[in-house]
Amino acid sequence: MRVIDLDRDMSDVIPTGLTPDSQFLFARMTDVTLDLAGAEPGRRILDVASGVGQDAVSLAVRGAAVVGAEPSARMSGMARLFAEGDGRREGALPSWVRAWSDALPFATGSFDAVICKGAIDHFDRPEEAVAEMARVTRPTGRVVLAIANFESLACRVARARDELRERLLPRPPRRGRRGYDAPSDHFTRYELDLMREQASRHLDLEVVEGVSLGWGMPGWSQALRHLPSGVARGALQALDWIARRAPAWADVAVLAGRPRRSATISL
Ligand SMILES: C[S@@+](CC[C@H](N)C(=O)[O-])C[C@H]1O[C@@H](n2cnc3c(N)ncnc32)[C@H](O)[C@@H]1O
Repeated sequence: MRVIDLDRDMSDVIPTGLTPDSQFLFARMTDVTLDLAGAEPGRRILDVASGVGQDAVSLAVRGAAVVGAEPSARMSGMARLFAEGDGRREGALPSWVRAWSDALPFATGSFDAVICKGAIDHFDRPEEAVAEMARVTRPTGRVVLAIANFESLACRVARARDELRERLLPRPPRRGRRGYDAPSDHFTRYELDLMREQASRHLDLEVVEGVSLGWGMPGWSQALRHLPSGVARGALQALDWIARRAPAWADVAVLAGRPRRSATISL
């Protein structure tokens, strides 16, 4: 039996009071994902696990015909409300469909691009979900996956620091969730190799790119707050430049590729 709480609204996992590094990370992750989807008039784009719908609306604002697929009626309700109140919108709104990622109610090859941002680690059947995303994308189209990396450089440094502390200091282990532990609502703790392995079963990968470096590094948020804003921004951009080229260290990895038809038929 499938036991997933669809009544929750994720307001606990979508941060509200953002630090400069969080703001930078979320904005870059969104820009990279949406740019890779290539939204423009005449293109049909699907946002899988569209949540409160902000990305689907942004794609529609760029002119694409967008569908947001989301199993939670509560999230879709919020998406409808936000979309109707979005001042940037001119023209068509996204359409909202209630759907699980592993059983998408669309014909094979019916979208030019499919995005799935910050959500695959919440899925109980992630492999089936990637297969479904590949199936509903046309053969020359693109699937874009953006996923948090729990083996980022920052996670590794924070874990090494905690292990050292626990070994050297006669203190009990820290309580509560540490940044490098996957939250309780995640089914999978992703790192780059696992993302690549799962994605490449159903996609011919064209892009594997990192976003942001250092998020969650001990002391990093506080240090940024004390720097002049131009210097902080420059530091975030320089680290992002490195992350783009070293996705295994990055805070988020973005993978994009064309569907592999032969692989998708077998599921
Ligand atoms: C952290 S939110 C991300 C939402 C959005 N993509 C964003 O970037 O803001 C994760 C979403 O995954 C959805 N979800 C959880 N399990 C799912 C599944 N098996 N299939 C589709 N969506 C699912 C949740 O309802 C939630 O909206």
